[in-house]
Amino acid sequence: MTKLMTDKVVLVTGAAMGIGAAIARAAAKEGAALVLGDVAASELEKTAGELMQSGARVAWAVCDVRSQSDVDALVALATDRFGAPDVVYANAGVEGPLGSPADCTEEAFLRVIDINLNGIFRTIKAVLPSMTERGSGSIVATASVAGLVGAAGLPAYVASKHGVVGLVRSTAITVAKTGVRVNALCPGMVETALLERLIDADPAIRQGLLALKPMGRLGTTDEIAEAAIWLGSEKSSFVTGHALAVDGGYAAQ
Ligand SMILES: NC(=O)c1ccc[n+]([C@@H]2O[C@H](COP(=O)([O-])OP(=O)(O)OC[C@H]3O[C@@H](n4cnc5c(N)ncnc54)[C@H](O)[C@@H]3O)[C@@H](O)[C@H]2O)c1
Repeated sequence: MTKLMTDKVVLVTGAAMGIGAAIARAAAKEGAALVLGDVAASELEKTAGELMQSGARVAWAVCDVRSQSDVDALVALATDRFGAPDVVYANAGVEGPLGSPADCTEEAFLRVIDINLNGIFRTIKAVLPSMTERGSGSIVATASVAGLVGAAGLPAYVASKHGVVGLVRSTAITVAKTGVRVNALCPGMVETALLERLIDADPAIRQGLLALKPMGRLGTTDEIAEAAIWLGSEKSSFVTGHALAVDGGYAAQ
C-alpha cells in the first residue's frame, strides 16, 4: 500500500509523550523523516531512540515553545538534516490549573496562554515563510474540544484552545491561495499524562468525563494520531481552516 508521508519532513512539538509521540510514530510508519522537539529532554530522547530503532530517520532537540529561538532552531535542524518541514504538528500543550478564574493567578493564566497559544503562533511563524515560498505545506495545530465548546474549571486552557482555533482559521484564510493548508486537531478526552494530572487534581473528573461522553470511553492516542495523519497528508488536500473534532461525539452534544 502507498505510504502517505514518504520522504516528507514532519516536525512535531511536544513529541516526547502522549499525543505528540503517537503522531510521530504514525508519521514514521507512513515513511516520514521526523524532527521532534519537547522540553522534556530524557523522555524525548527515549521516544526518538525507539523510533530510530524501528528504522525511522529522526532528528530531535530540546525545544521550549515559549522561546521563538528554540522553535526557530528546531526548524533549522529539520532543514539542515532532511530539508524544510513539509508537515508540521504544533502540538505542545499543558492543562493549567483547575478552578474558577477568580482563583487562577495571572501568572498561571499567562503561562498556559504562552505555551498553548503563543507556542503555536511561534511554530507557525517559524515555518510559514518557507512553506508559502515553496507553495506547499500542511500545518496541524493541536487544539482540543475545549477549543470548540466550554469546559468548567479550566479558564486558561479553554481560552488558549479557542485562541488556537481562531489563529488557525485566520492563518488558513490568509495563506489559502499559496498552497499551504492550516488546520486544527481537536481531540476529546484522551488517556495521557495530561489527563492523568487533571484526574489526580480532582478524581471526580474521570467519572464526569465518562458520563459526559457519548461513546462512554476515553480516546486513545493512536485514534488521535490517525486523524492527525489524514489532516497532515495530501489525503485532505481540500481541507483548510478546519477544526476537526476527534472526540467520540463530545462536541456534538
Ligand atoms: N489528553 C487529552 O485529553 C487532550 C485533549 C485535547 C487536547 N489535548 C492536547 O493535546 C496536546 C498533547 O497533549 P497530551 O495529552 O499528549 O499531553 P502530554 O502531557 O502527554 O504531552 C504534552 C507534551 O508537551 C510537552 N510540553 C509541555 N510544555 C512544553 C513546552 N513549553 N515546549 C515544548 N513542549 C512542551 C510535554 O513535555 C509533553 O511531552 C496538547 O496540546 C493538549 O492540550 C489533549
